[in-house]
Amino acid sequence: MGTKKPKSIELLNKAVTEELGTIHQYMYWHFHLDDQGFTPLANMVRRIAIVEMQHLERLAERILFLKGDVEMVPAVEVQKITDPEKILNKAAELENTAVEMYNDYANQCAANADSVSKQLFESLVTDEEAHFDEFDKQLDNIKRFGPNYLALQSFADASAGGAGPQA
Ligand SMILES: [Fe+2]
Ligand SMILES: [Fe+2]
Repeated sequence: MGTKKPKSIELLNKAVTEELGTIHQYMYWHFHLDDQGFTPLANMVRRIAIVEMQHLERLAERILFLKGDVEMVPAVEVQKITDPEKILNKAAELENTAVEMYNDYANQCAANADSVSKQLFESLVTDEEAHFDEFDKQLDNIKRFGPNYLALQSFADASAGGAGPQA
């Protein structure tokens, strides 16, 4: 890599801080959902947090390839939301924000002739859209089956040996 791409490094680092904030938030939710007995939902959030960690790793690799350094600072503090339905609403909002942000970053990288970073952001958009869909489906089920849906899901999961909700 002959030339540095300062704009790409800046965007990639902004994404790093977003992913870090999201990882912290999702792990906080994982602990609280697990503590409250919402095991399937707790496992789902943990599984998605691990994907966010992989996003962070891919961003970091790209930053180092471009000879930048990784700014390991979370974008936002953890919000102390513990009600499961409020968690789902906030998580869907976070994913939606990430989709818009990474689409924008992909376009900016394309404008700066950095198609590898562009493709990385596009690949993240695909994942964040899938995450949004998972959270949205759970919210949809609460609307369809009523406020006890999440509790019933936990009982059903316990009697089925803890498989968790399917993606
Ligand atoms: Fe992510
Ligand atoms: Fe995500």
